[in-house]
Amino acid sequence: MPRDLTGLPIAISGAGTGIGRATAIACARAGMPVALSGRREAPLREVEERITSEGGRALVMSVDVADAAACARFVDATIERFGTVYAVFANAGYGLRGPVHELTDQAIRDIFETNFWGTLNLFRPALAHMLEHREGGTARGHLLACSSCLSKLGTPFTSPYSASKAMQDHIGRGMRHELAPLGVRVSTVHPIGTRTEFFDAAASRDDSVGQSLAPPRMFTQPPDRVARAVVGCLRKPRGEVWTSHTVRLVFAAATAFPGITDRVLGRALRSKGAGAGS
Ligand SMILES: NC(=O)c1ccc[n+]([C@@H]2O[C@H](COP(=O)([O-])OP(=O)(O)OC[C@H]3O[C@@H](n4cnc5c(N)ncnc54)[C@H](OP(=O)(O)O)[C@@H]3O)[C@@H](O)[C@H]2O)c1
Repeated sequence: MPRDLTGLPIAISGAGTGIGRATAIACARAGMPVALSGRREAPLREVEERITSEGGRALVMSVDVADAAACARFVDATIERFGTVYAVFANAGYGLRGPVHELTDQAIRDIFETNFWGTLNLFRPALAHMLEHREGGTARGHLLACSSCLSKLGTPFTSPYSASKAMQDHIGRGMRHELAPLGVRVSTVHPIGTRTEFFDAAASRDDSVGQSLAPPRMFTQPPDRVARAVVGCLRKPRGEVWTSHTVRLVFAAATAFPGITDRVLGRALRSKGAGAGS
């Protein structure tokens, strides 16, 4: 039977915009008290207002997920306000573009700090609470990370990003099996191109190099599509959440046949005139 989410609190990072925002609103509509975090407070306040105006409960905290202590304070604040934390959606993340040889070491380290360590920084304190409050040896809780379809395939000009998403994916799978006997669920979410601030944010970063490689709009989805899938996974937990079966199959085939994939990628990039330093 699908889980009734009413009254089960969730803490979400990157909740002021895009997928995080849509998911926060969808979770609140499912009856979950929602803790919202991000670095900018103004968009978080807008989401809080939207949720409370619809009768939901929300709290806001300004948090940089690369800061483990700040993430722990966010989880503590969630527990203090709502009594517990049932779920976490580690969603904060950003894109970085450019050929690896032109990106600085710092730019590459930074993306792992946010996209990968930001996930663990949020998972760890929430998990500690879940395990501490085991009943009859069984914990209750759900950890979700917003990875990407690109977690399955390193892609030219965005490979540090793909690698950071692969780390979420691989750690998520490991934790899923490690924590299953203890009662805590772990899921990774694999959106395809989604219409959010993501591509503009990547294009405007000082540490990005080269042209934007945003997918054509017809191949993208609205963030509400991802939000619905996340709520579906909270109700009926599963390991991986995909929002396009077609893309999932394409990536599975691309991984199975790397030689063909390299030829297709090479041809596509040549036809776009993309190359190092472009
Ligand atoms: N859009 C896509 O095509 C797509 C596809 C697959 C996966 N994803 C993943 O989906 C997630 C959400 O992205 P989105 O598409 O919704 O883009 P978005 O609208 O740019 O959302 C990213 C959010 O993360 C927050 N954030 C970034 N760095 C942060 C940090 N260091 N600490 C705390 N918060 C931080 C941003 O808020 P502040 O700037 O206020 O901190 C922003 O609200 C990301 O993990 C992304 O990798 C996106």
